[in-house]
Amino acid sequence: MSTLQPTREDKFSFGLWTVGWPARDPFGDATRPPLDAVEAVERLSDLGAYGITFHDDDLVPFGSDDTTREQHIKAFRAALERTGLVVPMVTTNLFTHPVFKEGGLTSNRRDVRRYALRKVMRNMDLAAELGAQTYVVWGGREGSEVTSAKDVRAALDRYREGLDTLAEYSESRGYGLRFALEPKPNEPRGDIFLPTVGHAIAFIEKLEHSELFGVNPEVGHEQMSNLNFTHGIAQALWQGKLFHIDLNGQKGPKFDQDLIFGHGDILDAFALVDLLENGGPDGGRAYDGPRHFDYKPLRTEDADGVWASAAANMQTYLLLKERARAYRADPEVQEALAASSAQELTTPTRGQGESLEDLLADRSAFEDFDADAAGRPGYGYVRLSQLAVEHLLGAR
Ligand code: GCO
Ligand code: MN
Ligand code: MN
Repeated sequence: MSTLQPTREDKFSFGLWTVGWPARDPFGDATRPPLDAVEAVERLSDLGAYGITFHDDDLVPFGSDDTTREQHIKAFRAALERTGLVVPMVTTNLFTHPVFKEGGLTSNRRDVRRYALRKVMRNMDLAAELGAQTYVVWGGREGSEVTSAKDVRAALDRYREGLDTLAEYSESRGYGLRFALEPKPNEPRGDIFLPTVGHAIAFIEKLEHSELFGVNPEVGHEQMSNLNFTHGIAQALWQGKLFHIDLNGQKGPKFDQDLIFGHGDILDAFALVDLLENGGPDGGRAYDGPRHFDYKPLRTEDADGVWASAAANMQTYLLLKERARAYRADPEVQEALAASSAQELTTPTRGQGESLEDLLADRSAFEDFDADAAGRPGYGYVRLSQLAVEHLLGAR
């Protein structure tokens, strides 16, 4: 086992529901006892994480009275203070209780939508109190199985109204939260609204405070739709909308596996870490927020396996970061990149000050252009791809 030690500067964070997952699935009972939030804070801190996140109901069981709620929060807060772990993001459970079986913010029933809004707002108070900057909205139950039973345009109106209301609440209370919408194509609903990063970014443009909204893409969720996750992240960055990220692993389009980061498509994970760590304008970090792991420790594991899996997420990330650094520094890679004209893509297609008429008058661009000759040379991507594989496998 490699020994890269995570530090707080790495900004690794975990959902309380991840290490705390008792491993109940649709086919089987829990295989592990419940995990106390205080223990989660302590163990994650010992392992080198910097943050912990939670849904309201992860920290305080649904339906608890005020006194019980306060006790849970107090113990959690004390553990945070003892360890120095922070709470960079908070979210709401609008999917477990039967009341949300037909949706939260987009339920056909108005009283359910009003209840959902109030549940989120109560937890936003706590998020602000604990110093969170980001509020994640994952609409797991916002969707349908029976397409004809749901007026999708009305549902999107209600989604927008709900999110506008939450933004208004944050602003009116001076919380300064930024919201991150988390796309997912299906599961638990047959079809979920805002199924991909692209849908979510387009929807955000319709919000009243669109500047307060971005996305929280999850590796596996895009891959469930057979999409290239790194492309999705690059576009979110390009649009200034990468507010948060959920790292995990997935093996192709099937149920949401929530594997350890890198334990699915390792080449895409390599490209992703390279983008996040080295894709900034100056060759530094392209994204400075939490590296948040949203995974499920395998149902086969006991408590030791849970903590081994938490460590494995961070270890894999750091190894990929180290591999990406070596890849970038390799002169052969630089040479292969140059040979593939990669750098030329940053040159604008039109010359500086070139008018449309100039472009039309440039015979070398069309009439005299030898398309056959230009179509002959290869780009040398095989070499580049193999260099990446060799770096990834530690052969370089
Ligand atoms: C999933 C989702 C959830 C959400 C989380 C945030 O795996 O289906 O990732 O885990 O991220 O509930 O609200
Ligand atoms: Mn998931
Ligand atoms: Mn997630």
